[in-house]
Formats: sequence, structure tokens, C-alpha cells
Amino acid sequence: MKFFVDTAIVSDIVELNDYGLVDGVTTNPSLIAKSGRDFKEVIAEICNTVSGPVSAEIASMDFDTMMAEAGCLSRIAPNVVIKLPLTLDSLKACRKLSDKGIKTNVTLCFAANQALLAAKAGATYISPFIGRLDDLNLDGMDLIREIRAIYDSYDFKTEILAASIRTANHVKEAAKEGADVATIPPAVIMSLANHTLTNKGLDQFAKDWEATGQSIL
Ligand code: E4P
Repeated sequence: MKFFVDTAIVSDIVELNDYGLVDGVTTNPSLIAKSGRDFKEVIAEICNTVSGPVSAEIASMDFDTMMAEAGCLSRIAPNVVIKLPLTLDSLKACRKLSDKGIKTNVTLCFAANQALLAAKAGATYISPFIGRLDDLNLDGMDLIREIRAIYDSYDFKTEILAASIRTANHVKEAAKEGADVATIPPAVIMSLANHTLTNKGLDQFAKDWEATGQSIL
């Protein structure tokens, strides 16, 4: 499963990239607002930092303006992926962009039928939002399971990008259900390395090693 980082904070992306943990980046208008930075400037900087796909979301709701915004964003860098919310106008834009060879990420997906439409529109990625479904006491992972079954039945090439990931458990479950990608907040990616028994074992090894009085170098 590929890891995308769900942030517009460039320093966090640089840090995770150094660990070799960044296959791509996703942003959204809320993350851009949180960064306090100019949208196009920050997308350009992220695209210079990582070689993988970087999702940049259009802001308009009508087809013509969406296409104009998509053109503007895709000129920033070759690895920009146009992120479109799941509406009928977006699906029309998705088909046009896909036909032109421009990569797309259809976002705000909360139902398997929406994911089916995105695949039929030629989306490169579909982003089902796990955490926001869990917030409503639904099981976001059911959605990943349903989309996987539908896409596999018809051999759709659209990749399932598990989004709205909030916990390490979400990452594990998305991987078990066969999501192609998970987009994950930086702190959750870092937390995946943590285990109490690893820390305990490391303390013991460090003490025992010190007692040997040896040095490797
Ligand atoms: C995905 O593309 C979104 O940017 C993100 O995962 C949404 O997460 P949230 O529901 O925690 O805001």
C-alpha cells in the first residue's frame, strides 16, 4: 500500500520524505487554509520536494470554471493531480481531464455508488473518507471493502485512496481491505513505528550491551 501524506505543511513532508515514507501528498482547501500559505506557491514547493503525485483541489463548482482551474493547477508541475469533489460537474470534468491524460483524485466519497461513478469517469484515484463515516457511528472500512469488491469485479483501474485516516488502526485496516493508497496525517505516520514492547526491548538491549563493555566501531 502506498503512503500519501495528508498535509500542506512542507517541513512535515520534508521530514517524512527523508525517512522514505512519502509516495505522494494530498491537500485540500482546509489544509491549505491551515498552512496559511498561498495555494499555488505551496503546491509548487511540495511538487519540488516529492516526485510522487501531489493532489491539489479545485475550488469552483461549475464545469467550465473547474476546467479552467484544473488547467491552471496542472501547469504548476507535472506531478500535480487534480482533486475534484464528487459532484456531477466534477465527474464530467474528470472524464475530460482523464481523456487528456491528466491525473485526477475524486474526493469526498461516502458511498460505493459514488465510487462506481468515479471509476466510470476514468478517475485515477477515488478518495473514500473513513474517519468522517466513523464520526457518524458508521464503519468507514465497510466502504473500502465494497469499493474493492466492485472495482475488482469489473477490473476498474481507479486506485482506492483511503482518506480521512485518523488512527494507526485505520491504516492497518485499510491495508487489510486492499486499499491501494492511504493518505495519512504526518503524526499518524510517525506513530506507526511505536510499540511499548519495542521500547522495552530496546532499553534492555541497551543495558545488556553496555554491560559487555564492547563497541562495534
Ligand atoms: C483527503 O484527501 C482529505 O484531505 C483528508 O483525508 C480529510 O481528512 P479529515 O476528514 O480528517 O479532514
